[in-house]
Amino acid sequence: MGYEYILVEKKESVGLITLNRPKALNALCAGLIDDLGRALDDMEADDDIGAVVLTGSEKAFAAGADIKEMSEKDFMDVYLQDFITKGWERITTCRKPIIAAVAGYALGGGCEVAMMCDFIIAGENAKFGQPEITIGTIPGSGGTQRLTRFVGKSKAMEMCLTGRLMDAEEAERSGLVSRIVPNDELLSDALKTAQQIAGLSRPIVLMAKECVNRSYETTLSEGVRYERRVFHSTFATEDQKEGMAAFAEKRQPKWKNR
Ligand code: CAA
Repeated sequence: MGYEYILVEKKESVGLITLNRPKALNALCAGLIDDLGRALDDMEADDDIGAVVLTGSEKAFAAGADIKEMSEKDFMDVYLQDFITKGWERITTCRKPIIAAVAGYALGGGCEVAMMCDFIIAGENAKFGQPEITIGTIPGSGGTQRLTRFVGKSKAMEMCLTGRLMDAEEAERSGLVSRIVPNDELLSDALKTAQQIAGLSRPIVLMAKECVNRSYETTLSEGVRYERRVFHSTFATEDQKEGMAAFAEKRQPKWKNR
């Protein structure tokens, strides 16, 4: 089955998903979220793909959940459908790394989707925000929680209470994005970074991602203990042997993904 609202490509070992609903600034309608989930399922199942890049257009990564689609819903609709969580969380369950390459607006659900990815590389014109308060609602897909963890209470509270947008420089300064690149280099930079990750040992990459994510879910002492056990597990892999042998022999490792 094809896709209506996204473009899907394979660039060497990287899966590239481009949100493609330009007339609505990539507003995240149910069909788009369904497309995104199916693309991630396919990429997760594809052994040739080691990392994913999720991007939008130069004007908008995504301007939020589709306001027109949700405006007619009532409490029972959203409660019974578990509206907005359902489907969106597929991003957070993807085991392969996902890089968000964000140019333009990443607002509301767009900011939430970017934050569900493993890290964000921002184009110079990127703008982040949770403006739901200005349309009579609040973030519904983790914005109040993830933004607060990224940028701290004061900035997150101000943004959620006023709808103020954050530009790329402020987002980098606050830890929301890993770095800023010129807009015309955004995609090539994100693909290069994803390719670099995809070229490493697959199981070790998955383990590293799992450990960093664990830090959001547990106490420091439990997280450190968890990390140590996973670190120990790397010694059961062929790739740990190969990686360390290659270092000692001054050559590039040949990963077996075992
Ligand atoms: N949902 C549906 N349609 C949207 C949309 C959205 N979130 N954002 C933009 N669009 C549509 C506009 O309605 C417009 O369509 P028409 O041409 O048919 O009127 C088209 O995209 C272009 O938008 P604008 O004309 O508004 O473009 P602009 O450059 O003047 O403004 C903008 C850009 C500042 C991003 C503005 O579009 C805007 O404020 N969008 C809404 C942002 C927002 O409030 N997002 C939060 C949504 S709620 C949410 O996400 C809940 C959650 O937590 C999951």
